[in-house]
Amino acid sequence: MASSARYGWNVAELTLTSKDPVKLKADALVVGVVSTSAGIAILNPQALPEGLRTAITSAASALDISGKAEEVRRIPSMKTVAAPVIVLVGLGDESPTYAAETLRRAAGAATRELVGVSNIAVALPADDVDALAAVAEGTLLGSYDFTRYRTTAAKKPAATVNIALVTSLARSKDAASAVRRAKVLAEAVHNTRDLVNAAPNDLFPAAFADIAKSAVKGTSIKVSVLDEKALEAGGYGGLINVGKGSTRGPRMVKLTYTPSRPASKVALVGKGITFDTGGISIKPAKGMEAMKSDMAGAAAVLSTVIAAAKLEIPVAVTGYLCIAENMPSGTAQRPSDVITVRGGTTVEVLNTDAEGRLVLADGLVSALEDKPDVVVDIATLTGAQVVALGDRVSAIMGTEETRAELVAASDASGEQFWPMPLPQELRAGLKSKVADIANIGDRFGGMLSAGIFLQEFVGSTPWAHLDIAGPAFNESSPHGYTGSGGTGVGVRTMLAMLEARAAKA
Ligand code: BES
Ligand code: MN
Ligand code: ZN
Repeated sequence: MASSARYGWNVAELTLTSKDPVKLKADALVVGVVSTSAGIAILNPQALPEGLRTAITSAASALDISGKAEEVRRIPSMKTVAAPVIVLVGLGDESPTYAAETLRRAAGAATRELVGVSNIAVALPADDVDALAAVAEGTLLGSYDFTRYRTTAAKKPAATVNIALVTSLARSKDAASAVRRAKVLAEAVHNTRDLVNAAPNDLFPAAFADIAKSAVKGTSIKVSVLDEKALEAGGYGGLINVGKGSTRGPRMVKLTYTPSRPASKVALVGKGITFDTGGISIKPAKGMEAMKSDMAGAAAVLSTVIAAAKLEIPVAVTGYLCIAENMPSGTAQRPSDVITVRGGTTVEVLNTDAEGRLVLADGLVSALEDKPDVVVDIATLTGAQVVALGDRVSAIMGTEETRAELVAASDASGEQFWPMPLPQELRAGLKSKVADIANIGDRFGGMLSAGIFLQEFVGSTPWAHLDIAGPAFNESSPHGYTGSGGTGVGVRTMLAMLEARAAKA
């Protein structure tokens, strides 16, 4: 079986310039707009000549420009600046400084609007390193679109995109490293989005494992792949039994990045269900197509390990991708089957659609065998996560300190994660009449029960569990730097966690 899925996104070229934005040769010039008590104001006033500025501000309401966050308007520049098109992007209410995430979203909303345009100049507020980093990240994160399967693209993506950021820090070393980091980060997020968006006939378990192998070429990352034979021999009952309904067998990919003097040792475990039909406990047809995104956790882990290696973060990182396809068939597991996962725990499978926790059990047990200081798993695990927090806010459960560590990392990265409890009384609902544990529990609090199930496999190791079921795949309208489809959520939070550990050492 051939696959055309691949890992190899080329992010836009990003340069810094201290030139006069009015004179910048570009196809479009991005300028910020804010709302004030007296109407709108244009940020970075030197970016536009005075005549045009007054024309825009005085006609703002007729032009329906309010400056509200992420509002994007394209106007002709009428040769008042070198770029033929000006893109006005809203940042919300006027304020002395703008939060990093406000800048990221505004920059991303602008470049998302400009997909297909090759030369973009951005004159958003970027005169301190944090603001510059945010604008750099936002512009890159927004310039993504998924056209791999189109033979007649309405909007052809530009072969190379050049983005020039106007900043007074054009010659600063810190600014240069912020740009380098933004590129690695955006590349990681875009490659994660690509994998999530890939069609599941194209991204089956063996194809995913092959992509992981080729993706780490040229880095210091070591990779090993267990195929179904090796998984069988090693007692990886979660992966084997979830995967056995499919003609395309499961895989476990292990990625190891070891810097020379690691400050700590982190294990990342990702759910990689390349398609989740539910198995014999089959899902309804409506909406099932979104289950191609059920490997988003594993994709985020792959990209995070690669980004950590590229940025040479001084933390040892081991990634475990738990990859299988959950299909109904004559060889599929049945509700009431009892399986033995890695390490010997027996699980009664009461619902074959609660498959993520089964493959993660194998992944968590494997991770612990290498004695990490901390283990983080990431998974599109439960519909209950979407009910509780919606499709933009992900959940974090786990041991208290690690949960707090990941909440802080998500805040620093601009991703939205929220702490959730693991009420121990939910363990009773997971009691099995025949095995050590059942794979489903109480009807209510399904996200938490799933967390309690995973807790069974982490022993006393500090641990966090990220449930990204809703946020991994955007089925609503695009917003900020997030388009439709795969979002790449989790990469930035996990990377920020590694960086924070490196900084603490
Ligand atoms: N992959 C799904 C969870 C999911 C739902 C992800 C919606 C993204 C969007 C998972 O494998 C699943 O089916 N979970 C079940 C568990 C239940 C049977 C206990 C669920 O949440 O319904
Ligand atoms: Mn499922
Ligand atoms: Zn699933």
